[in-house]
Amino acid sequence: MKNFQLKAKILSQTEIKDNYWYCELSAPQVAKNALSGQFINIRVSDNLDPLLRRPISIHRVSGAKIKIFYEVVGKATEILAQKKKGEYLDIIGPLGNGFEYSRITKKSYKRKNILVAGGMGVAPLVFLAEKIKFNKPLVLIGAREKEQILCSQEFKALGCKVIIATDDGSLGFKGKVTELLKEVLSLNQQASKAENIYACGPQPMLKAVAQISCANNIASQLSLERHMACGFGACLGCVVATKSGYKRVCKDGPVFSGKELTW
Ligand SMILES: Cc1cc2nc3c(=O)[nH]c(=O)nc-3n(C[C@H](O)[C@H](O)[C@H](O)COP(=O)(O)OP(=O)(O)OC[C@H]3O[C@@H](n4cnc5c(N)ncnc54)[C@H](O)[C@@H]3O)c2cc1C
Ligand code: FES
Repeated sequence: MKNFQLKAKILSQTEIKDNYWYCELSAPQVAKNALSGQFINIRVSDNLDPLLRRPISIHRVSGAKIKIFYEVVGKATEILAQKKKGEYLDIIGPLGNGFEYSRITKKSYKRKNILVAGGMGVAPLVFLAEKIKFNKPLVLIGAREKEQILCSQEFKALGCKVIIATDDGSLGFKGKVTELLKEVLSLNQQASKAENIYACGPQPMLKAVAQISCANNIASQLSLERHMACGFGACLGCVVATKSGYKRVCKDGPVFSGKELTW
């Protein structure tokens, strides 16, 4: 898989709500080669603090531009949010293995591909939704409360059906998005079943999605998050246990089959 290191010009930086930012970058080589589920590794500072690059998913691609969607959670993302339009970011990408969707065709049943997002897990799934929009996927988005529900309009604009779950019931289904997934699958029992479940979010959510998918005999692809050091497979700092041994989230993932992971 080809990847590039480049200084990408910031074309826009927009805070869409407190601490949540969209950033568009001019990165022609990355845009040309990016697959949904892949990420870029960003160096936010020229000095040694923070020392490590930070992985951020490719949220959308348009021509020579890539867009990222990030939440400010610590030092690196705080520095990133202070960058202005016209400045340059040192990035490497596209990195990792993305989602596999080549078997989804225009003849596949509509709404039979389900995307499950928890919190910032929406970030790579919008790019996937764009790739399979002809199949009108069903998107389940979960968060603690309604203010933390992200990207629902973006998914709808792509023709997806969106169902929301909030832990406190402030919007949509009251409960975890994985409980919503169970309910959706049980309601679908009479009709033909879902073909694939794609998910990104916190680890407990992904583990539950894997269990639910296996119990329903549905293939799942899960995008994992791990702290990363090198980001390209050299340091073994991001390994995850699978049935075929330890694998590197940065290089062998971040997307893994739910059946493969042993958690
Ligand atoms: C493949 C991949 C894709 C990602 N895509 C996105 C994205 O599109 N948008 C986005 O906002 N974030 C994304 N992340 C998470 C992002 O990398 C971290 O939020 C970022 O590195 C935090 O850096 P920081 O210095 O601001 O915070 P830190 O001070 O490093 O950490 C702040 C808090 O976030 C937690 N954290 C930091 N990094 C990770 C991580 N990699 N996995 C789990 N928890 C972490 C820490 O434990 C700590 O509690 C992705 C991570 C991976 C591995
Ligand atoms: S971060 Fe170094 S191997 Fe994954």
